[in-house]
Formats: sequence, structure tokens, C-alpha cells
Amino acid sequence: MKIINARLRKQPDLYTLEVEDGLFSAIRAQQGYIDNAAANNPADDMINADGKLLCAPFVEPHIHLDAALTAGEPNWNQSGTLFEGIERWSERKPMLNEQDIRQRVLKTVELLVANGVQHIRTHADTSDPTLVGLKTLCDLRDELKDRIDIQVVAFPQDGLLSFPNGLQLMEQALEYGADVVGGIPHFEYTRELGEQSMKTVIELALRYDRLVDVHCDEIDDPNSRFLEVLACEALFKELGPRVTASHTTAMHSYDNAYCSKLFRLLKQSGINFVSCPTESIHLQGRFDSYPKRRGLTRVKELNEAGINVCFAEDSIFDPWYSLGNGKLLRSLDFGLHICQMMGYKDFQSALDLITDNGARTLNITDRYGIETGKPASFILLEGEDDYSVLRNQGEVLLSVRQGEVLMQRQPARVVFNRLAH
Ligand code: FE2
Repeated sequence: MKIINARLRKQPDLYTLEVEDGLFSAIRAQQGYIDNAAANNPADDMINADGKLLCAPFVEPHIHLDAALTAGEPNWNQSGTLFEGIERWSERKPMLNEQDIRQRVLKTVELLVANGVQHIRTHADTSDPTLVGLKTLCDLRDELKDRIDIQVVAFPQDGLLSFPNGLQLMEQALEYGADVVGGIPHFEYTRELGEQSMKTVIELALRYDRLVDVHCDEIDDPNSRFLEVLACEALFKELGPRVTASHTTAMHSYDNAYCSKLFRLLKQSGINFVSCPTESIHLQGRFDSYPKRRGLTRVKELNEAGINVCFAEDSIFDPWYSLGNGKLLRSLDFGLHICQMMGYKDFQSALDLITDNGARTLNITDRYGIETGKPASFILLEGEDDYSVLRNQGEVLLSVRQGEVLMQRQPARVVFNRLAH
């Protein structure tokens, strides 16, 4: 495969990229535009990118595929709170079976692939004695591995230590093959159990040699401070880059003096952060009147401190959030607005938040990125740089994985009847 006239992120020139045996074999800057009208058919192994942006695939670092497409079944979340979402999901859980999960997961993965995602980290609820969601997701991960990368987090939705047999279920999930240990300290019955759960999560990660991704302090309570316990354990056990704190919405409400002290630990620990802008702006601030908190973690400040942070969608039509469409560009748009990352400089590297930073969180940087020798996995976007793709919410026109075309889209064409000059 050969791609001509491609723009690469943060580069002024046009590029030609060559692919052999599924890897990038050459990436060269061009002297100018190559005029080759014939080169526009991926099926012929020749692609004329025509000045559009070629970038590494989008990374969805936090989604709940087991719950996707279940909103309103059997009841809708009327209050819009996280905790009602957990209640509504516990009503749906007894209805889960393998076929139901497979069908919904495949539809959702298709939606993500159609929008440029090639790497997914999904949480799978282990607060279910049958573990049907977790097992089905692990099975699908293996079955779909030639088409998409999926990491499965064993996520104790109702508590690791507060739910009956929560710890045993977690261990069963890890033995079955879950890639990542999860946690939910702010939902444990007491602060002590929350803190203990963070130590347990790190111990399990060491014992089973797995990554860690905790739903951490997903609450507006400024006293929810499990993040410091997680980061400290990660630091002391030298696991930092293998550990992720998702949500950390309480950080929005921490006082600045505490945050200043906390950031020193976060930076030293090297842990990663995931923020879910649409989910958090919807679920948080629900107990406020006015002024009403935004309830997102301090993405701008984390980013400026050199701490790795990425955006995720979290939900697609589930008990917590009844919109969502697999478009990470939408989450990025929301996130930049809510976090006030709207400076010219922010726009120049905006796609980092749904590409490179997500890849770092997933610990896949050894096989991710537009570099000679790496797998030829990329997407082609409507737009020429981060700014124009973001501003126009550019569509994904092509997604190629290890040299194989995963999806193609024809750009929409508008015909004006009355505006012609
Ligand atoms: Fe989540």
C-alpha cells in the first residue's frame, strides 16, 4: 500500500507513506503535491490523501461495552445522577445473557470503528456472580483481535470490598483473563474500605501482572480523596505508568492548596488520567442548585503539569448517559469547552487527547503511532490539521489497521440551490 499527499500532525509538508507486510516501511516528505488522479482507491493499494490529515487511530480508553445500548431497560434514569444510574443498571443486570451482550457489544464496536477507533479499553462489571459480561467481553476481545484491540477491565461496580464476594469475583475475573484491575473506592461503604480497596487493587495488579484502571473519586464530594492513596501506592510499588485514575471528578471541588500538594505526588507517581467530558458534565453537579459545578477533573492543569490525561466517552446509550454515538471528536469538543482549553495552542495539539495520550494510558505506545517500523494503522480525516478537524468535526474517511482497510466513508456533498453568486 502507498499513500500520497498526506498531511501529518504538526508537520508543514505533504508526505508519502509506504506499507509493507502491515508495517510502515517508508515515510517521506514530498517536494509538493503529487498529481495522480488514478491514485484514489484503497482497494488498489494506492491512496491519494489529497492533503487530508493522516493520523494514528483514535483511542477509546474508557467505555462500558457491557452496558451499552441498554438505556431505559427496564427503567430510565430520571434523576440523572451517577447513583441512580447504578440502581437502574442493577435492575438490568439480571436480564444479561451472552447473546444479549454479544449483540450490543458488536453494534457498539461497529459504531466506534466507523468513527476511527482502533483501540478500546472497556470496563466489565464484576459485581455479578455469573460474570457473564466479563467473560463475554474477554471472549469477544480474543475473537475480534484481528480487527480491533480491546482491553477488558474487571470493574467491581458495586464495590470490591462492600459487595458480597466482591474480591473473589475480581480474582475469578483476573483468572479468566481480564487485562486490567478496576476499583470504585468512593462507592465502598466507608473511607477505610475505600482506602483498603486501593491497596488491594495494587496488590492484585502485582500478583497477576495486570494494569490498573480505577473509577476514582467520581463524586462532587471534596473530601473524597482516594486518588492520593492510589497514586501513593502506585509510586511506592513503582507501577505508575501502568496505573490509571478515571474520572477523579472530586478534584474539581478540591481546594487549591490541597491540589497543589496533590499534584506533586501525581507527577512523581507517573499515573495516567481519563476524563469523560459528556458523562461528567451530565452526572456531576446534580446536588448543586446555583452556581452549579462543571464536575470535570482538572484536565487543563494536569496537562500543563506534564501529567498524561486523555478523553473518553464512557457510555453509549446506557443507564448513566442516554446519548453517545462513538464519536470521540464530540467528546473532545465538549472537553475543551468545559475545561476552558480554547487557546490557539490548545487547538494545535487537541487530537493528542484522543490519540497519543490514550495510547499511553493503554500502555500500547510500542505499537502505536505514525513511524517507520510500526504497524501501519491509521485514519484519514476530513481536515488538514488538529484545528480544522476539531472545528469542523471532520469525518473519518478511512481507517486502516496493519495495512488492511477497516472502513471507508464517502464525504457528504452539499448542493446549494440558492446561494450561488
Ligand atoms: Fe466509567
